[in-house]
Amino acid sequence: MIRIGVVGCGLQAATIASYVGVYNDEYEVVAVADVNLENAKSRLAEKKVCVSESCRFFNNVDEFIAAAPEVDGIIIGTFCTYHTETACKLEKLGVPLYIEKPVAINLEQLMQLYNTFKNSRTPIEVSLPMRMCALTQKAKALIDSGAIGPVHQAVGYEDTPGEIYFSTWFRDFEKTGGMFLQKAVHDIDYLFYLTGSIPTEVCAMRAKTYYQGDKPYDMTCRECPDQATCPEGPVAQFREMGRYNSVAEAVNACSLRMNPDGKVGTKRLCVFSKDIAIEDIGECIFRMESGAHVTHTQNFIARGHACRRGARFCGSNGTLEIDFNNGTLAVSSHRNSSQEKYQVDPGKLSHYGGDKELIYDFIQCMKTGKRARTDLITGNGVMSTLACICARESADSAKFVKIKLD
Ligand SMILES: NC(=O)c1ccc[n+]([C@@H]2O[C@H](COP(=O)([O-])OP(=O)(O)OC[C@H]3O[C@@H](n4cnc5c(N)ncnc54)[C@H](O)[C@@H]3O)[C@@H](O)[C@H]2O)c1
Repeated sequence: MIRIGVVGCGLQAATIASYVGVYNDEYEVVAVADVNLENAKSRLAEKKVCVSESCRFFNNVDEFIAAAPEVDGIIIGTFCTYHTETACKLEKLGVPLYIEKPVAINLEQLMQLYNTFKNSRTPIEVSLPMRMCALTQKAKALIDSGAIGPVHQAVGYEDTPGEIYFSTWFRDFEKTGGMFLQKAVHDIDYLFYLTGSIPTEVCAMRAKTYYQGDKPYDMTCRECPDQATCPEGPVAQFREMGRYNSVAEAVNACSLRMNPDGKVGTKRLCVFSKDIAIEDIGECIFRMESGAHVTHTQNFIARGHACRRGARFCGSNGTLEIDFNNGTLAVSSHRNSSQEKYQVDPGKLSHYGGDKELIYDFIQCMKTGKRARTDLITGNGVMSTLACICARESADSAKFVKIKLD
C-alpha cells in the first residue's frame, strides 16, 4: 500500500493523487495539510481519491511535519507562492516529493529551493509533463536519430483562451508570478529538451492588451450593469459563442462555478477588473549555449479554431513540426521535397498523455528511490522556472537578462 501525503490539496493535487492508482497500485491518502480543509475534502471527493479512513487533516504544513505522518511520498499543490517554502520545509522528512510548477515565483525562492535540494537525498519531481508526452518523445527520438540534423532555431507557440486565468485566483500576480511562470514554463521546458541545449540569456516582452477594464476587482457578471453589452458577458456567451441554454444559465455559470458535490463554489470574477497584473500576450527569445535561438509566444485571447499549441524546430537538414492539439508531427526535408507525417496517440491522461509518465516516475521513486526524469536537480527540473523568471525580468526591465543559477 502506497501512503500519500498532500500539502495544498486543491484541484491539481487531488487530480495527481487520483492518478497514483492508474498502474493498479494500492494507495491511500493518509495525511493532508491545507489552509482550507473544506476545499481539500471537496476536491478529494470530486476526484474520487482513495482516502484512508484514518486520514489525518492539518491546517498547515508545520502541523503536518510536527505530526510526522508515515508517508511514502508527498504531493505539493499549494498556490505557486508557497511551493518553495513548503518543499524546503518538507525536505527534512526525506520522502519523495512531487512539486507543482512553477517551483518558485522569484529568483530568491528559486535559489533557496535549489540550494536546499542540490545535495539532498530527498528526491523532488517537478510537474513538467509536456517533456514526457508521446509527441515530445517521438520528436526527441527523431531529432536524436539525426532526422533534421542539429537544431538551429525552435519556435514554440500557445494561443489559448484566458477566461480561467483572468477570472480566478490565477489573475493574482502575487500568487502565480505571471503567465511566463504559470503557462509558458511547460512549453519552454520541452523546447529546451528538444533543442538539446541550455539557455544563456533571454529578451522578452509581456503586456495586458485585451483584458483591460476598470471593473471592481471582486465583481462577477451577476452584479454587472454591462451584462448585455460586454464581449465576455453572459449575453455574448449565450448568443455569439453558443454556450449555455439561456442567458440566465450563462449569468450563473459566469458568476460562480460549483464543484460537482455542490458544496464549494469558485467565484468567476470579471475578466475586465482593474488591477489585474498578469499579461495576456507574452514572447521570449532565448540564446542557447549551442548557438541556437529558442522563441516562445503565447496569448490568452484566441478561441475556437484559432487555438494552437506546438513548435517548429529548424535543423540543418530538415524542419520538424509538432502540433499538440491535433496529435501530429511532421518532418520536412530541406534536401528534397519529402515530408513524413506521424499521428501520435496521446493516451487518456492530461497534458497530451504526459501525466501518465509523470505519475509513473513518482510511483517508481516511492517504490525504489529512482529519481524522476523531471527531478529538480538530476532532471534539470529547475531550468524552465529559472528561464521564466529571467524572461519576466527582461520583459519588465526591457533589457536582455543573463540566465544563471547563482
Ligand atoms: N501541472 C499543471 O498543468 C497544473 C494545472 C493546474 C494547476 N497547477 C498548479 O497547481 C497549483 C495549485 O493549483 P490548483 O488549480 O489546484 O489550485 P486550487 O485553488 O484548486 O488549490 C490550491 C490549494 O492549495 C491550498 N493552499 C494554498 N496555499 C497553501 C499553503 N500555504 N499551505 C497549504 N495549503 C495551501 C488552497 O487552500 C487550495 O486548497 C498551482 O501552483 C498551479 O500552478 C498545475
